[in-house]
Amino acid sequence: MDIFKLKSYVDDRPSEGVFRVHKDVYACPEVFEHEMAFIFERTWAFLGHESQIAKPHDWLATHIARVPVLLTRDAGNQIGAFYNACRHKGARLTRTETGNKKYHVCPYHGWCYSSNGHNIDIKDRKDGCYTPAFDRDSHDLLPIARLASYKGLIFGSLSADVPPLQSFLGELRFFLDLAMEQGEHGMELVPGRIEYAYDANWKMQLDNGTDAYHLTSTHTSFLDVMAKRSTGEGNQEAKQFDWQKRYAQEGGDFQFAHGHSVIWLNQAEVAKRPIFPGIAEVQKRVGAERAEWMLKLRNISIFPNLQIADSTSLLLRTFRPLSVNRTEMRYWCMAPVGEAPAQRAWRLRQFEDFFNVSGFATPDDTVTYETCQAGFAAKELDYLQGHSRGMAALQAGPNDIASSLGFNPVASVKGKFLVQSETSFHPVYREWSRLMQAGLAGKGAYE
Ligand code: FES
Ligand SMILES: [Fe+2]
Repeated sequence: MDIFKLKSYVDDRPSEGVFRVHKDVYACPEVFEHEMAFIFERTWAFLGHESQIAKPHDWLATHIARVPVLLTRDAGNQIGAFYNACRHKGARLTRTETGNKKYHVCPYHGWCYSSNGHNIDIKDRKDGCYTPAFDRDSHDLLPIARLASYKGLIFGSLSADVPPLQSFLGELRFFLDLAMEQGEHGMELVPGRIEYAYDANWKMQLDNGTDAYHLTSTHTSFLDVMAKRSTGEGNQEAKQFDWQKRYAQEGGDFQFAHGHSVIWLNQAEVAKRPIFPGIAEVQKRVGAERAEWMLKLRNISIFPNLQIADSTSLLLRTFRPLSVNRTEMRYWCMAPVGEAPAQRAWRLRQFEDFFNVSGFATPDDTVTYETCQAGFAAKELDYLQGHSRGMAALQAGPNDIASSLGFNPVASVKGKFLVQSETSFHPVYREWSRLMQAGLAGKGAYE
């Protein structure tokens, strides 16, 4: 691909009030192949949460984009991440998603690996007439280049040329902490997860996770049901939010380095948040200011494949690109470890209402991604106009909120709820363009 063409895909001229993204970024198969090589194989990606492999010998079959990764906890509690590919002929070692096994026996020719990745048996090796050269080779599983955790979130990289995880996450950690420090004894993914695939580009989800603008048009059925239930009609198990009250609130977004961003909204009905009954303990542990921010609505986007949304309930979402127009989505309800059963039930009912694959929001979102992807077939459609809203309210660096809370974003927006800015997408495409250009120019991702 021509580097000049690639450079033109993200038209980033903030001083002139312009930020535009070309539709080929979402629709061109050649762009997609470059994304695999220059983004997913060269930066940190989310792999899983520690609660998914809580006990020795627990394992989780996960991926970095199209590359299968086996996440394990060995006998000594050490977490490992390996290419999920047998050293013999490459077969994937797992046929299900998760489990507990001391030994992984390859389903093809029966080579056997322990939970720390060591090859401990080559089937019928003695009679196999192997040469000394073969015996000198290591037959252990290949570890991926980097593995690190932040507050229970496990990230991996297929390249060793990445900054330390803490600096990759950078100043966004303030918001990660607000999600990951809600429980006195840590956080866990509630067993059971949502999984499905949609026929559209992976960045449709990346955008939508911090897109507040679509709420009042895409999710009208959800808003209508909430309004109806508020009168006492229908299912009353989940708390009903008064969306009119929300529109009067102040909100905004913060841009961070390395492609991350967050949108936030002041919360009018804090008592409807499942952590509210235990907020006194939270205040004592994290301070009143952070506890107050835990009750606000916050959607976090961590480039390239993780989102944590704390709105009607707390959701952790990851997605992986399968092709330019096909994406696999997985997500979980996240909760404090040891949460009281009544609060857990409340949290789950609100999660199901909005986020479930059969809930009032997710199907509307998914269908919409697919209709956008179909629209990209329009030849004359070049630059999309969906990355501009809120730019006139953009302030470089921290605003008063960031300064008083003590974190340092690249840029900030604050305003009425209905600003519903699209400036939270800018870090994504700035980082996307930087990584793609570095790759095409033959440079390292973080040189
Ligand atoms: S591919 Fe695994 S044992 Fe042959
Ligand atoms: Fe949505």
